[in-house]
Amino acid sequence: MTETQPTTPAAQPGGSSSPSLENLLHETRAFPPSAEFAAQANAGADLYAAAQADRLGFWAQQANDLITWQTPFTETLDWSGAPVARWFADGKLNAAYNAVDRHVEAGHGDRVAFHFEGEPGDTRTVTYAELQREVSRAANALTALGVTSGDRVVVYLPMLVESVVAMLACARIGAPHSVVFGGFSADALRSRIADAGAKVVVTADGGYRKGGASALKPAVDEALAPKEGAPATTVEHVLVVRRTEQEVAWTEGRDVWWHDIVDSASDQHEPVWVEAEHPLFILYTSGTTGKPKGILHTTGGYLTQAAYTHRYVFDLKPESDVYWCTADIGWVTGHSYIVYGPLTNGATQVLYEGTPDTPHKGRWWELVQKYSVTIFYTAPTAIRACMKWGDDIPASFDLSSLRVLGSVGEPINPEAWMWYREHIGGGSVPIVDTWWQTETGAIMISPLPGVTATKPGSAQVALPGISAEVVDDEARAVPNGSGGYLVLTEPWPSMLRGIWGDLERYQETYWSRYEGLYFAGDGAKKDEDGDIWLLGRVDDVMNVSGHRLSTTEIESALVSNEIVAEAAVVGAADETTGQAVVAFVILRGEHADRASSDDGAAAVQTELRNHVAKEIGPIAKPKRILVVPELPKTRSGKIMRRLLRDIAEDRQVGDATTLADSTVMDKIAAGLKAPA
Ligand code: WTA
Repeated sequence: MTETQPTTPAAQPGGSSSPSLENLLHETRAFPPSAEFAAQANAGADLYAAAQADRLGFWAQQANDLITWQTPFTETLDWSGAPVARWFADGKLNAAYNAVDRHVEAGHGDRVAFHFEGEPGDTRTVTYAELQREVSRAANALTALGVTSGDRVVVYLPMLVESVVAMLACARIGAPHSVVFGGFSADALRSRIADAGAKVVVTADGGYRKGGASALKPAVDEALAPKEGAPATTVEHVLVVRRTEQEVAWTEGRDVWWHDIVDSASDQHEPVWVEAEHPLFILYTSGTTGKPKGILHTTGGYLTQAAYTHRYVFDLKPESDVYWCTADIGWVTGHSYIVYGPLTNGATQVLYEGTPDTPHKGRWWELVQKYSVTIFYTAPTAIRACMKWGDDIPASFDLSSLRVLGSVGEPINPEAWMWYREHIGGGSVPIVDTWWQTETGAIMISPLPGVTATKPGSAQVALPGISAEVVDDEARAVPNGSGGYLVLTEPWPSMLRGIWGDLERYQETYWSRYEGLYFAGDGAKKDEDGDIWLLGRVDDVMNVSGHRLSTTEIESALVSNEIVAEAAVVGAADETTGQAVVAFVILRGEHADRASSDDGAAAVQTELRNHVAKEIGPIAKPKRILVVPELPKTRSGKIMRRLLRDIAEDRQVGDATTLADSTVMDKIAAGLKAPA
C-alpha cells in the first residue's frame, strides 16, 4: 500500500467540497419521482429485474433494440481473454451509420441534429439529412488524403459542428479517432500524436473563447515540427477548418483546408462495415504515472452502452426532447453524450462553442430558454460557479422546459445538488448524478429518473446490467454504512479494451489490485440503504473542474524546468473547482535565493505556472506554487503527500512520525509564514 492509498479511503476524499464520509452520514433527504414523471418514463423497475434475471441476455437485447447491425451477432460476451472482453464479436456494424444514416432512412432526415451556437452568437442548424451529407463528404475527403480503415486520426478542434463531423467521418471509414482537448499544449499534442501514430490531424485556425479568437493551428505546427529527441512524426496531412479567419502558417503539401476538399467531395459514401471489436477511438487520460494512457474503445459494445444509458438515464424522447450536454468533445463525456449516445438515439441537441460566462453569466440559461432545452447535463464545478454568480441570474430566464438534469465528472456536494434542483430545476426536476470514467466508456452508476428516489450527493445504484461493489482492502464487500474502494465485478459492454500499445499497463493499472475485479481508483461508501456515495480519487489522480490531472505528470513538468530541483503536487480542496493543483517546489541551488523576496517568489510562481501550461496545457497550471527547502519523505523516500495536503488546505499537519526527518514539516511551515 502506498502513502496515497489510505487504509480508510473514506476518510480521505478528494477535498472538503467533495462530500466526506462524516457530513454525508447526516445527509438523509430523498426525493421520490413524481407520479407524472414515472408514468411516462422510459425506465421502470422491470429493467432491473430483467437484467438481474439474465444479464447477458439483457445486454444482447439492448444491442439488438438500440443498434442496427449489418451482420447480426450470435455471441454476446467472450471473456476468455480477460481482462480484454469481446462483446457481440461476430456482429458487424458502423457507428456513423447508426448515428446518422439510419435516422434519415427511417424518415427523420428533417429532424434537427444540432442547434449550433457559436460564442460570438452565430448560429447554424443541422438536420440529420445534412449531417449525413456532411459526414459522407468528410469521409470521402479523408479517404482522398490516404486514410483507410485502422489508420489513426487526431482531432484537435474547438466545439464546432465540424468536430462532430470529423469524428463520425473517421468512424465511417473505420479509422479510430483520437480527440485531443483544444486546451492541451503543443507538447501534450505531440506526445499523443506520436503515441497514436496518427496519419492525419484535423484542426482549425482557431476558435472563440472568452470573448476572443484563440488560435489552434500554431500548436499543431509546433507539435509536428522536428524536435531533438522526439520521434519523427507519422502525420502526412493536416486538415484545417476555417473558423476565426486568423492568419495561419501553411506547410504546402501537408496542410489542406477543410472547405477546399470536404465541401467539394461527393456526399455519397458507403460506410465501412466493421467487426464489433474494431477500434472506434483512443482517448488519452491522466493516470498515476507521468505518461497519459491511450484508452481504447471498440465499436459494438461501446455504442450499445452509450445509447442504452443515454436513453434510460436521461429518459430521452427523440421526437420531443432538446438535449444539451455542456462537455467538450475533447473529453469522454463529449464522446459518449454529445456524439455517440445522443446521435445513435436520434436526439436533437444544442452544441455550444464557448464558455458559460461569455458575454454574460446567464449565457447558458439564455440558451436553455432560446432552444427550450429539456435535458441538461453538466459538471458540479459549473454548478458551483453558477451558485457563486447568484440566484438572480438563472431566475431571469425561463427554464420551465427542463425536465431532467444530469451531473458528471466529480462528486457533487449536497449543497450544489440542492441548488441545481431549486434554481435550475424549479424544485421538482429529477437530477441524475452519473458516475463513470473514460475507461468505462459510458455511465455505470446513476439513479434512473422516474424510478429512483434521488438523494442529494449520491450516484446511488449501478445501472441495470452493471455490477458494482464497495470493498475493503481484502476485496470483501463492506457492510452498509461503511466506506471502501469502488470496484466493478462483471465485464460491461463499453469497457475499455486496453491501453493503446500497452496491454501490461492495462492489467497492472486496473486488474492487479484485486483478483478478477476492476479497480476504479475511487473511494466510495454505502449508506444504510446500500446506495453508493462517491468520495473522490484514492490514487495520485486529481480532479480539477471535472478534469483528470495526474500529480506525477505535473511534477515531471515542473522538474523539467531548469530552476526546479524537486517538486511535489497535491490536489487541495477548492470551493469552486473541487480540487486545485498546489505545487511544492525545491529550487536548484543557484536559484534558491530567488524566492526569498515577495517579488522574487511571485516571479518564480509565474514562470513555473507558464512552464506547466506549455508542457501540458493551461488546465494543469498550479493554482499555488510554494517554494520550500525540503519535502516530507518516508524512510523509503516516498513523498508524504498527505502532509502537504494538510498545508495546502490550511489544516493542522497530521501524524508525521513516519518521516525520515521529523523536523521537515516545521522547516516547511517556518518558510511559509511569509505570504505564499
Ligand atoms: C470522477 C468522466 C463522483 C471519478 C466521465 C472518476 C465522479 C473520474 C463522477 C473519471 C460522479 C466522474 N461522482 N465522481 N458522478 N463522475 N467522477 O475519466 O473520480 O474524466 O474516477 O470521466 O471522475 O474521470 P473521467
